[in-house]
Amino acid sequence: MRSLLFVPGDSEKKLAKGLESGADVLLVDLEDSVSLDNKIEARRITAAYLADNLENPDAPTIFVRINSFDSNMLEDDLKAIMVAKPHGILLPKAEHGKDVTLLDARLRVYEAENNISDGLTRIAAIITETALGTLNAGTYGDRSQRLSAITWGAEDLSADIGALEKRDADGNYRAIFQHARTVTLLGAVAAGVAPIDTVYTDFRDMEGLREECDEAAIDGFTGKMAIHPAQVEIINRAFTPSNEAIARAKAIVDAFHAAGNPGVIGLNGEMLDRPHLKRAQLLLSRVIGAE
Ligand code: COA
Ligand code: MG
Repeated sequence: MRSLLFVPGDSEKKLAKGLESGADVLLVDLEDSVSLDNKIEARRITAAYLADNLENPDAPTIFVRINSFDSNMLEDDLKAIMVAKPHGILLPKAEHGKDVTLLDARLRVYEAENNISDGLTRIAAIITETALGTLNAGTYGDRSQRLSAITWGAEDLSADIGALEKRDADGNYRAIFQHARTVTLLGAVAAGVAPIDTVYTDFRDMEGLREECDEAAIDGFTGKMAIHPAQVEIINRAFTPSNEAIARAKAIVDAFHAAGNPGVIGLNGEMLDRPHLKRAQLLLSRVIGAE
């Protein structure tokens, strides 16, 4: 899961384009990019799209972003789309790990009703769209085996807080949004799921996107959401470990193995101890996981 491309669920044209985008995951949206008047039509189009592409071996993984628990639309969303067996559900405005437990329980019911194997439908959650959600970023461990990824959002958080700006004059996130980003990364790792960076909304600014992707990859995020197909390739490249990084990780793992797995070794004049080994193993597991 390096690139996750949002596609409005009421746009047949964009949905078709999404298939050719090269994104690892499509996030078909029933929430904020769909007007209230279009919700029913979006559910119909999304369900038909899922049904058409489920058996398509070239299609990406397809998640559906449903409306939040407090919208009163979540149940109708699930009812409409679970018949078409999406690979996963993206839950917006999650405020606590308990929300994931609750969604897990709802999915079990819909899986049973629709002849889907128990537990097959994955969950991803956006956890910083409210002040409360941001404060509860550490509550996502052991909530559901389905939980695969956690990500964050700045737009809704700024609306919840009443923040006037998200970024400073240099274009960097202001402290509160940096905090949300940080607790998302820590919350995801603590829960043992993929940490995914939020969207870069200025979709014509490729240099800015590249920089933000590189920062995220350095910090430990394993992927980033996109809003435009032109962003996908840059994201995929940034979150694919380089051949040098893979070779170095393999060399570290091999050197520990060859030395009988001690606490510390020397390799090319550098001291390496357990955290180095752990980081190398994590990188290799992510490479294998992406294959
Ligand atoms: N998925 C698939 N196709 C997309 C797309 C997306 N997210 N965004 C744009 N496209 C398509 C356009 O339809 C257009 O197709 P065309 O060449 O056949 O006309 C092409 O890519 C180029 O698009 P462009 O003209 O550069 O942008 P736009 O003005 O049409 O769209 C947005 C701009 C922001 C409205 C659009 O990118 C979008 O809808 N993004 C997703 C928004 C979303 O889901 N937000 C919720 C999460 S934050
Ligand atoms: Mg939103």
